[in-house]
Amino acid sequence: MAKTILIIGACGQIGTELTMALRKVYGSKNVVAADIREGSDELMVSGPFEILDAMDASRIDTICAQYFVDEVYLMAAMLSATGEKFPKKAWDLNMNSLFNVLDLAKEGKVSKVFWPSSIAVFGPTTPSENTPQKTIMEPSTVYGISKQTGERWCEYYHNKYGVDVRSIRYPGLISWKAQPGGGTTDYAVDIFHQALEHNKFECFLEEDTMLPMMYMEDAIRATIEIMKAPASSIKDRSAYNIAGISFTPAEIAAEIRKHQPTFEITYKPDFRQQIADSWPGSIDDSQAHNDWGWNHYYDLESMVTEMFTQLPKRSIF
Ligand code: SER
Repeated sequence: MAKTILIIGACGQIGTELTMALRKVYGSKNVVAADIREGSDELMVSGPFEILDAMDASRIDTICAQYFVDEVYLMAAMLSATGEKFPKKAWDLNMNSLFNVLDLAKEGKVSKVFWPSSIAVFGPTTPSENTPQKTIMEPSTVYGISKQTGERWCEYYHNKYGVDVRSIRYPGLISWKAQPGGGTTDYAVDIFHQALEHNKFECFLEEDTMLPMMYMEDAIRATIEIMKAPASSIKDRSAYNIAGISFTPAEIAAEIRKHQPTFEITYKPDFRQQIADSWPGSIDDSQAHNDWGWNHYYDLESMVTEMFTQLPKRSIF
């Protein structure tokens, strides 16, 4: 029998693409999308959809029972920049939703859980270049604290209750299908929209702020690969570092100029600069490579080319 998957937060930046990718792999009717709001037409018509608040434990339980759900992907979260504006809300959403899903798995109602962590688990005292899998982690944002705490709880539920939970620390994700919301790395998506629409961009980070990023296709593949890997190869039950592309605003602007030579970028750092400064510039993902065979594919050049190929085809301007 085919397995059934529930994606909570299916209409967000990652959820939108993850849902479509999982529907391709496991069959549309076997992948239930759920979110607090409706999503893209493609997502809504291609398979089952349920309105769901990730904080509502009993409704998650009901949906899992109704569809005989085997695996849950919990993608709902409040990201770093919005989290700093609403610290209590960010904590409640990010933690309660995780407990709701971990407890379902603990009770044996679902067999596997994916929960995303983030480079935000690192902080100003973390070594910032080639940041190791295991290192100093003193996150300074509410989002980062919630992700670091979540990692500890994932490991705890695995060790104590045998819950099969798997996680990766996503870098900033660049995609053309759905926009991110409320993150510090969001500039690296917005820059493409502004380039195509206005040929200029005002960046909220300094020109030399290096951050770890990744093209969405790689991130989706990482998610599907870690969930498919044999349980014995997932040796770290907190979350895995995965690396893609590290670049600064000045470097991505220079790459964009290869497609639009007159593109202009200006810099007006705001509160998000401090968040970015607390995060690493590059990530060592050798443990993910060794344990479950992870490799990224896109570099800066191929990612920018792909964005300029795909984004203009969308009629969102
Ligand atoms: N993209 C996220 C953010 O900027 C980091 O995981 O908040």
